[in-house]
Amino acid sequence: MRGIILAGGSGSRLRPLTSIHSKQLLPVYDKPMIYYPLSVLLQTGIREILIISTPAHLGMYRSLLGDGRQLGISLSYEVQDEPKGLAEALLIGREFVGSEQVCLILGDNIFYGHRLPDMLREEVERLDGCTLFGYPVSDPERYGVASVDAEGTILTLEEKPTAPRSNLAVTGLYLYDNDALAHASELLPSARGELEITDLNLRYVKEGRARLVNLGRGSAWFDTGTHDSLLEASLFVQLLEKRQGIRISCLEEVAHHMGYIDNEQLRVLAKELSSSNYGQYVLSLAGA
Ligand code: TTP
Repeated sequence: MRGIILAGGSGSRLRPLTSIHSKQLLPVYDKPMIYYPLSVLLQTGIREILIISTPAHLGMYRSLLGDGRQLGISLSYEVQDEPKGLAEALLIGREFVGSEQVCLILGDNIFYGHRLPDMLREEVERLDGCTLFGYPVSDPERYGVASVDAEGTILTLEEKPTAPRSNLAVTGLYLYDNDALAHASELLPSARGELEITDLNLRYVKEGRARLVNLGRGSAWFDTGTHDSLLEASLFVQLLEKRQGIRISCLEEVAHHMGYIDNEQLRVLAKELSSSNYGQYVLSLAGA
């Protein structure tokens, strides 16, 4: 399976933070936001990843993460000229995906949960069509909302419904079989001029091949698109990391844990970061 991180958009709700800066490079406590979705892909076993961002910002991602070799993965980069919608990622990434399955993740979504990596790997194994991940929220009318049958097959999918049929918000993590490329190429721009991910997902719903997995109360999901949600995500990460003495979404740790890099390489990466607490943590993992 190939991975795509969407790190473009306008980030208008975060201005002036995003007046010149890319949203997905903003700090979430101790690391850039993109580390979180990237670590989700790595933990799912996905090592070939495309990062999509704006013409103004793509170079910064390349400077930060390079070709991924230092983490034992392969990173490539493509520009999205204008924020023409999430589904456009599949058009931009058409060649990159080739004949593989694809996992699309939004660069401003943070997922955390004890069983999450296992669950994602299981879902990749059983993927047939598309799999979305729902999170119970108290204000579903602000999100895309799915209703499902007893087997988890999606029956309805509605964008910001006035009368939500469930409290399950659709999160920014999507697994697709290769049909997604053909579906995406047939989409027409919506009234707001975007290729909507919901329209793509609705094609799978129509075929009866869209599944929703409830992330449930044992996990955390943050969309960091507003000032408050950005701060809340930082506080959550800080609280958990301080309390447990661990780091969430530490790319070096994840790459090592997954066997993508060896101890020696972990030590090399740690040394570059060693003046920060983050680097000291990585150094401790390397047994140095
Ligand atoms: P949104 O939060 O819907 O949009 P945005 O980031 O432009 O922010 P705002 O609403 O404040 O203007 O985007 C969700 C994620 O998808 C986010 O990581 C940005 C990314 N994105 C793209 O990369 N390309 C796009 O065309 C769109 C619409 C979003």
